[in-house]
Amino acid sequence: MPEAPGPERLGALSTFRLPAAAHELVVLEHPEQIPALPDPTSGSDLILGGGSNTVFLADWPGRVLLNRIRGLRFESAGGDAVRVFAAAGESWHGLVRRCLDEGLHGIENLALIPGSVGAAPIQNIGAYGIELDRVFEGLTAWDRERCRWLRFGRDDCGFRYRDSRFKSGEPDRYLITEVVLRLSRSFDPDLSYASLRGALDRGGIARPDARQLVATILRLRRHRLPDPARLANAGSFFKNPIVDPAVARDLLDDEPELPHWTLSGGAVKLAAGWMIDRLGFRGERINDAGVYANHALVLVNHGNAHAEDLLRLIDRIVGAVEERFGIRLEPEPRLVGGSPALVEPQPRAARR
Ligand code: EPU
Repeated sequence: MPEAPGPERLGALSTFRLPAAAHELVVLEHPEQIPALPDPTSGSDLILGGGSNTVFLADWPGRVLLNRIRGLRFESAGGDAVRVFAAAGESWHGLVRRCLDEGLHGIENLALIPGSVGAAPIQNIGAYGIELDRVFEGLTAWDRERCRWLRFGRDDCGFRYRDSRFKSGEPDRYLITEVVLRLSRSFDPDLSYASLRGALDRGGIARPDARQLVATILRLRRHRLPDPARLANAGSFFKNPIVDPAVARDLLDDEPELPHWTLSGGAVKLAAGWMIDRLGFRGERINDAGVYANHALVLVNHGNAHAEDLLRLIDRIVGAVEERFGIRLEPEPRLVGGSPALVEPQPRAARR
């Protein structure tokens, strides 16, 4: 029997910073390390990038693989198109900035989203009217079940709103090492998102250039969302629910101000933040677990929150929204070791 490693603290590796530990922690800096990884000494593996979308409600009994693989290169793809090959351990916002400096366009609206490049396709990150799948071309991943390298194209990834095959299909089966984006040298921004359009109008900017657009997104995010370096959080804590048109019609008859977006196909996405806000939750706390004062969709850890505080707060919000609006909210980040009602897989036995 290999000697058991000591517990490894995980708190600082997740931006929500609940206290938790893992049996073992391995930092990956090169793809070549991956096929050579020994079997975990206990439990199974959990893959962690920037930790901005993973909340530890309990210790992880297995091994945590921390993806810190770096590297960035650009390749012309004909005409105005440029392929960007970004290693999974790069910072997402660092990539947005570098592309801005290189005069490459398409991801300006996704500026300042915390987390790593490798996490971006897992939940198909999105903001201000754009989702990653619009510019995504492919990714490389190690299939931990069949021990082989695989390349996934856009249609292989099962992208949906804040979801992909890597999140809800088979979490932790594929270890993403590189993401390929297709960006453009010409600037054709999407300014359709209401609060973005409003902010540009207020600044008197009818047609922003790329730097003005990024500066506006940064201002919007800094005003509405807490900086995880100062106040621990995991971004939006609940997904915006998507409902059938008939359900939306009934609800909107009662709540005509509820912000909503009709999706292609007719389903309707509802603003969960508005519903939570409407129920007066902004600024609410259970010990150090709280609802952010400037945005009701964001839960925060004021310093010493424990999993029980957060779970009680989640229960209270989910129960109140269901009672008032008849809609059951689902958490957006991955809740590790959560209660079964919060749908998170428990560690599986080692696969190899
Ligand atoms: N609203 C309120 N009160 C609140 C919060 C929101 O009335 O406390 C209203 C807003 O005024 C607006 C509507 O709800 O009319 C939607 O709010 P917002 O534009 O802030 O967007 P969101 O739906 O709450 C989503 C993403 C964010 C992304 C923003 C902007 C999800 C789960 N969240 O939030 O993404 O930045 O749109 O595009 O889809 C994240 O995923 O972690 C994230 C921060």
